[in-house]
This record gives sequence, structure tokens and C-alpha cells, in this order.
Amino acid sequence: MNVKEALDGLSCLSVATIRLALRRPSELRRYVTHCLRKYDELAWNGLPCRGPVTPTEDITVTIPAHHSGGGMSFDELVMLARATRVLRPKTIFEMGTYNGLTTAVFELNSEPNSRILTLDLPPAESENRPALASDQELVASRRLLSIPRALGLSRYTQLMCDSMRFDPSPYADSVDLGLIDAAHDLDHVQNDTRKMARMMSESGIIFWHDYGGKGALRPLASYLEGLAKRCPLYRIPGTTLAWGSARELKSELQEVTS
Ligand SMILES: C[S@@+](CC[C@H](N)C(=O)[O-])C[C@H]1O[C@@H](n2cnc3c(N)ncnc32)[C@H](O)[C@@H]1O
Repeated sequence: MNVKEALDGLSCLSVATIRLALRRPSELRRYVTHCLRKYDELAWNGLPCRGPVTPTEDITVTIPAHHSGGGMSFDELVMLARATRVLRPKTIFEMGTYNGLTTAVFELNSEPNSRILTLDLPPAESENRPALASDQELVASRRLLSIPRALGLSRYTQLMCDSMRFDPSPYADSVDLGLIDAAHDLDHVQNDTRKMARMMSESGIIFWHDYGGKGALRPLASYLEGLAKRCPLYRIPGTTLAWGSARELKSELQEVTS
């Protein structure tokens, strides 16, 4: 634990925190992270709150009942499903497939003629271990696309490439909904954001997962908050999803992506 993490922990010291530390110390980090994230959201620290879409009363979404891990909560899956249903993207691109839970959500809620591309590391590159321990665990435990397969879904294309080496140019300006949820260290998030911006259509929307974390996830949040000084980015309340319109991001990141 570094000094910043220790200060973060101290900043939400309460009777409940001390009780949990005594009763279930292994849950303390998760509790403190949750409290701090909620505090930032309610105190208007970091990205402002705003939903990406406003569904009308007649719209429903479909979510797989089984949750296979990967870090995305049911609330977050619903938010992605709502965006997919309302925006009706022709092409969806996600970085970070894992077991394909989000891939399945995209397929279940998108138009039958839309295209879904999902990128993950090839098996041989599992030795190219991500920097963060939490990402290493996900690489080791993934069962690529097991969820869509179990649901009999098949309208997706699996791309197998390290995102650092991935060439976005064949997909330039074509993606209407992008999700960045691969490796969560700063180098990868910067790389993935630039490449996603390059691939996005002007009217598209980009989502990032795991915004607002402390500790090892703090650089991801700082990067997005830095970017938000130059183009509008938002957080979705009650989730760790951040999002922004591709138009502004494309022009902001143009020099580094072309
Ligand atoms: C958090 S999981 C994705 C979860 C998925 N979006 C879901 O909720 O169903 C992250 C995935 O990114 C992959 N990954 C990690 N580093 C990567 C990289 N450099 N390039 C491509 N994929 C990577 C991991 O193998 C893992 O399957």
C-alpha cells in the first residue's frame, strides 16, 4: 500500500470501516474503494454525471441471466444494453472480450444486421503479462466467448491481437459504439483510447469501464479527467462507466492517431 492509498483509506475512516476491518479484513479494500467512488460521484469530484441516452418507455433490454465475472456489474450491463438499443449502432467494437458477457449484451440488443468486433490477446501472448495484477488474473481466468456460445449467439468477430500492436486503420471512422475494457494501466488505456478514437465514426460514443477507482486504477481516472479538460467526458451515476462523444475525442486525439 502506498501513501496515496493509505490517505484514501484514512479519508473514509468511520465506525463501520473499523468494524469491517476487525470482522472481515479481506473485504476492507473493496468497501473503501466503493465508498470513495460514491463520495466522488456525490461530491461532484472528477467527471460530471450524465447518462448517454434517454430511452423511451416502450424500450426493453435483454441481459444474460448468468454472470461469469469480468468485472462488469448488472447495472453496467443494463447501461450498455440501453445505449445499444437506443443508438442502434451499425458497428460495435470492444477491447477486452474475456468470457464475452458484454459481447453477448451487444448482440442481444443490437440490430440483426449490425457488426460486433471484440478484441482480446491471443493465447500465446498470455506471457505478455499486463502490468496490473488484477489484469493478469483476468487474462489467466478468461474462457473467451463462453457466454455467447452458451446462448447460441454467433454474430460477432473475435480479433486476437495485443491492443498495443493492433492496427486500427482497417476500421477507421466506422465504429458507432466502442467499449474500452482490456488492460487498465495507463499505457494501455492511452493506447486503446487513441486507437478507438481513430476507429470511431463522428456520431459514435466511446465507453470506458473501471472509471473512478483508486490505487492501481487511479491513473486511468486521472487520464480521463485530463482528457475531459479538452473534450467533454461524463460518468454514469452508480456505475464505473465513463463515456464521451467520438466527435470531440477524434479531433482532440487526431494528431496522435493519424
Ligand atoms: C475486464 S476483461 C473484459 C470483460 C468484458 N468486457 C466483459 O465484461 O464481459 C479484460 C480482457 O482484456 C484482455 N486483455 C488484457 N490485456 C489486453 C491487451 N493488451 N490487448 C487485448 N486484450 C487484452 C484480457 O485477456 C481480458 O479478457
